[in-house]
Amino acid sequence: MRFSARLLSAVIPFTLLVAGPTQARDWATIKNAGTIVAATEGGFQPFNYYEGSKLTGFEVDLAEALAKKLGLKLEWKVVPFDAQLAALQQDRFDFAIASHGYTEERAKAVDFANPHYCTGGQIAAAKDGPLTVAALAGKSVGVQLATSYADAAKKIAGVKEIKTYKGDPEAFSALRAKKVNAWISDKFTVKATLDKNPNAGIVPGEMVFVERVSMILRKNNKELGDKLNQALAEIMKDGTYNALSQKYFKADISCRS
Ligand code: ARG
Repeated sequence: MRFSARLLSAVIPFTLLVAGPTQARDWATIKNAGTIVAATEGGFQPFNYYEGSKLTGFEVDLAEALAKKLGLKLEWKVVPFDAQLAALQQDRFDFAIASHGYTEERAKAVDFANPHYCTGGQIAAAKDGPLTVAALAGKSVGVQLATSYADAAKKIAGVKEIKTYKGDPEAFSALRAKKVNAWISDKFTVKATLDKNPNAGIVPGEMVFVERVSMILRKNNKELGDKLNQALAEIMKDGTYNALSQKYFKADISCRS
């Protein structure tokens, strides 16, 4: 009895070390490796999307600029949006930059960097469709899975049905095909999508809520968070941020403007 207890106490710490929770790469490890690993989705224009086979967008360019400031190479992992929080907690990458709006719920699971843009959720629908929050009563709404738009749609009184899609392109297609009466997404994503599809007969409607968007990283990885925030502050100061913001939006979309 005594023997096995002693054996157990010798085995447990070892097991924890081997099979215990994985450890996020800290700043020193990343710096040593010379490469930082970032995740994004690739389906959220103009922030992170594909042009042919090339991953591009405001957030893709921004992350490249941040890595450069930090003296690191950047490696991309393309991960479905709804899988990113869990994948981050499994340390499949160092941070994600995929337009995560700050929510208390998410902040329980991951840390948020300082915001890299401010924005809001907006309704889009056919010209004669429901274009205001009030008009959504009795209607169906399409949203991307696991987003703040899905949360917002749930809070709108009287909405008949919320249909969730893997990505925004699918939600937009559903709207065009009249499978849903309205679509809620980011106001800049709505604009970029409608600009590319001028004959779809879809128009932007009322804003539903506002949000601050940040990179997310593992909890308790403070030094990495500090470094990302420092690099962000530097590119906001030296004009890099503004140049990228002008390139994609013809405006400064930072939270200071
Ligand atoms: N801003 C929204 C949110 O915080 C949507 C983000 C979606 N991002 C993406 N890459 N599809 O939930």
